Amino acid sequence: MSRQVIQNNAKSKLIVALDVDHADRALELFEALRDDIVVFKIGMQLFTAAGPDIVRRIVSRGGHVFLDLKYHDIPNTVAAAGIEATRLGVSIFNIHASGGSEMMKRTAEAVAETAAREGLTRPAVLGVTVLTSVDQETLRQIGIADGPATVVRRLALLAQTSGLDGVVASAHEIKIIREAVRNSSFVIVTPGIRSASDPSHDQRRFMTAGEAISAGADYVVVGRPILNAESPAKAARMFLQEISDAIG
Ligand code: C5P
Repeated sequence: MSRQVIQNNAKSKLIVALDVDHADRALELFEALRDDIVVFKIGMQLFTAAGPDIVRRIVSRGGHVFLDLKYHDIPNTVAAAGIEATRLGVSIFNIHASGGSEMMKRTAEAVAETAAREGLTRPAVLGVTVLTSVDQETLRQIGIADGPATVVRRLALLAQTSGLDGVVASAHEIKIIREAVRNSSFVIVTPGIRSASDPSHDQRRFMTAGEAISAGADYVVVGRPILNAESPAKAARMFLQEISDAIG
């Protein structure tokens, strides 16, 4: 993980997803949260609405950006996009592990070379294994007979041997990945987090931030429970407390 990002404290472990439709709203949230949050995730909604300038603006104000565009294309194209993400100054970006080893290797190499040549910080490159919305039936539709857990395990190992820094994975897959990839510096970023007091937590589709960190996640991603709160800063502090309690 990028040197500036990795710190073993609660503050750096909570990534807030800026899933909003306008740069102004994103900057408002950034300003409200910047004292408590180190890394902000910019995904396809905000990036499509506001363009790369929103990344530059947050980086220039001292925020770290996880660019969540889940690149998946021919190796040359993904490597080229990775070079531009490096030049944009993001701390983390991700690519689909199902794009295969060559796509991942070429991207990791291009990013490292560009950062070294141009004197930039090398972003961490994460692999997306199986989206949490994809189940056995979805995999069957696209010709994959194995279940999600088997595919996650295979793709996480492939991401590691292809030189990626880690993966994005749901809390329920952390154990499988930690057992398969025997490298403690392999980063796991986990979305699908809800507060213990959130009613949807009862459905068990989500984990709390504390549970995910205790299960072995390095970072958790939280969007709507913070963005939609009356006070996003207050909501963020509640998640930070849950993480602090889990770290001990
Ligand atoms: O609002 P919520 O906390 O559910 O936001 C979760 C965030 O994590 C969203 O930005 C979503 O795109 C992202 N996500 C992801 N990979 C998944 C599931 C969610 O990057 N498998």
